[in-house]
Amino acid sequence: TIAGLSAVEVLDSRGRPTVAVTMVLPGGRRVRAGVPSGASTGSREAVELRDGDPHRYAGRGVRHAVGNVRGEIADLLVGRKFADLAAVDRAMIDADGTGTKARLGANAIVGVSMAAARAFAVLAGLPLWRYLNPPGVPPRLPVPHFNVVNGGAHAPNRLDFQEFMIAPLGAPSLTEAVRAGAEIYAALRRGLADKGFATGLGDEGGFAPEIDAPEDVLTTLVDAIADAGYPPGRDGVAIALDPAASEFHRDGRYRVAGENLTSTDMITRYEAIVDRFPVWSIEDGLAEDDLDGWVRLTERLGHRVQLVGDDLLVTNPAIVTEAISREAATAALIKVNQVGTVTETLETMRICRDAGWAQMVSHRSGETEDTFIADLATGTGCGQLKTGAPARGERVAKYNRLIDIEAGNDLPYGRA
Ligand code: PGA
Ligand code: ZN
Repeated sequence: TIAGLSAVEVLDSRGRPTVAVTMVLPGGRRVRAGVPSGASTGSREAVELRDGDPHRYAGRGVRHAVGNVRGEIADLLVGRKFADLAAVDRAMIDADGTGTKARLGANAIVGVSMAAARAFAVLAGLPLWRYLNPPGVPPRLPVPHFNVVNGGAHAPNRLDFQEFMIAPLGAPSLTEAVRAGAEIYAALRRGLADKGFATGLGDEGGFAPEIDAPEDVLTTLVDAIADAGYPPGRDGVAIALDPAASEFHRDGRYRVAGENLTSTDMITRYEAIVDRFPVWSIEDGLAEDDLDGWVRLTERLGHRVQLVGDDLLVTNPAIVTEAISREAATAALIKVNQVGTVTETLETMRICRDAGWAQMVSHRSGETEDTFIADLATGTGCGQLKTGAPARGERVAKYNRLIDIEAGNDLPYGRA
């Protein structure tokens, strides 16, 4: 039984309001959850409820979402007995009634869902990652994807691609992968400073230099990997990109570094990038409304690099199922708040596993100190997590949680 449920409006890592949920268990024990928030959101994501009052936080307040947790959702859940997390999530989805979580707010519902997962884990006497572990799936520590250069909607520079990540695929353990990430991050800071670039940070803790061409960032990044003493490539430290192409796609054209590219031009550009640099994964290489382009991209490059759908798939079981049947990508990005409940997130991950698609669990650009996704990635054994740079408290909280899990448990590390 859930003994109590409450919420408050707190700040996320960008200084914008978000929802923090507290659930009270029988006996008075409390569990909490912090709700993340994106900047480059997919158009089909579950709907985040914002107050729209221009006198508070430029309309971004979340008092209504907080009120829905304390009021309607508490009335629905408190004092009732639920068999499992799926039953709690189902009750909220039904009560919301919109299919997009627009009435109660995905930011209200997902916070309660995350807190409820923690509550069931506590009641079962299990660490969260073990509670989230699906039957028959071996848990594993994921390869961290450190976002070390920020552009697009996450930085005020002129770089169009949003994320340049380093992935220590060849590291012997999670702890050594974190060390590689931090050492390369330091080498990159020196490399950028030596070339006269500013080393200020973007929203996810990566550097935000005034560089136009993505290829120039990649050159600097490969140098930093080598300078830090790691072999660039899949046996050492590889690179993953998230151009977040929906953000620079307008009127059927992709606008990159002053050029106006068709979908086919973009695919050719990625092919050249993959020929030249140790890139192993590309997320949102094309826009969410360019499905035909995605199918052609997968045909051309799907056997050489992982192609991850984020805005394209929005962690939605039905949308992912459709994309699998179209062979429109080879992997899904997994964001709990994109679909709005933990149960639906686990369902999307199961659909991917069954189809042989990879999954990368992800933070949002607006984060809290909550480390839920570290446990989600470990418990589901998906082998990949991206949660920003190896710097800034809200990002390192997740990596540090993985280090703690590794220290206390004998789990394998690496891609699934
Ligand atoms: P967002 O960006 O959290 O701002 O949506 C993350 C991503 O695109 O992967
Ligand atoms: Zn993305």
